[in-house]
Amino acid sequence: MKIAIASDHGGVNLKKVIVEFLNDSNLDFTDFGPESTDSVDYPDYAKPLSEKVANGEFDKGILICGTGIGMSITANKTKGIRCALVHDTFSAKATRQHNDSNILAMGERVIGPGLAIDIVDTWLNTEFEGGRHERRISKIEA
Ligand code: RB5
Repeated sequence: MKIAIASDHGGVNLKKVIVEFLNDSNLDFTDFGPESTDSVDYPDYAKPLSEKVANGEFDKGILICGTGIGMSITANKTKGIRCALVHDTFSAKATRQHNDSNILAMGERVIGPGLAIDIVDTWLNTEFEGGRHERRISKIEA
């Protein structure tokens, strides 16, 4: 599985924690920045990452900003993206099982690093259930 990750300045410190987790887990990922807390605009990171997931270059994406909201709003503008804004492990599991979400958004100013790692771990390791949920996703796409 190829994973793309990016943030804005409000999410860069949590991104570093998640990058370390992905690295320690020997996962195949690319960090699209930024590297510092200098102010940037989240759509400049969310849009290109979303396009890389939508076109199949990457299987899944992780986007982090201060709240996760701007990243999720932007990501969901790209056709084929189902971005879930998640701050608990129940939703991390449910959105993979039911929505087949392909991008995970989180807010650095909302949750701590331990919970964020558990969310990423759960989200990456939960399979889509298909069945009736497939029909609902087709309706989203339509
Ligand atoms: C940046 O200050 C902040 O607005 C951004 O990180 C995010 O929370 C937007 O939704």
